[in-house]
Amino acid sequence: MTASKFELYRDLTAQLAALLAGEADLIANAANAASLIYHGLPDVNWAGFYFREGAELVLGPFQGKPACVRIPIGKGVCGTSAARAATVLVPNVHDFPGHIACDPNSRSELVVPLIEGAVVLGVLDLDSPLLARFDELDREGCEQLVALFVDHRRRFPK
Ligand code: SME
Repeated sequence: MTASKFELYRDLTAQLAALLAGEADLIANAANAASLIYHGLPDVNWAGFYFREGAELVLGPFQGKPACVRIPIGKGVCGTSAARAATVLVPNVHDFPGHIACDPNSRSELVVPLIEGAVVLGVLDLDSPLLARFDELDREGCEQLVALFVDHRRRFPK
């Protein structure tokens, strides 16, 4: 990572660890994580969680404009990430077939799955109004944040 981005994600990871410490409530922890990421990363217009319920993702805590509540697994960027159990980085959402437009200002998107063992619990979704806002360094940084979040949930189940 470049020094500044490395430091940014290092600081966000430390702040997330502090926010999660001693708290097991999934909704509260996801709400604080979404707020931390939304306010901590520049040029992000939506940051939040979808949690898997059966064959759908259901909207969880987020910051940004109101969003679609249910996304079938396999649909949109979020559903694709969940189906593949892999991060999906989209430099231009208009080039992604089946992209689900919640905020018409969104131009690029990064979705990281929450994976525990072999199970996809949900996804972390980040949107930006800038084209190609997210790069491999953001992918690494957000995967690091998600790994911390999932590990905390595993160690402190509600
Ligand atoms: N764009 C996402 C939908 C969720 S919103 O961006 C918050 C998708 O295509 O799955």
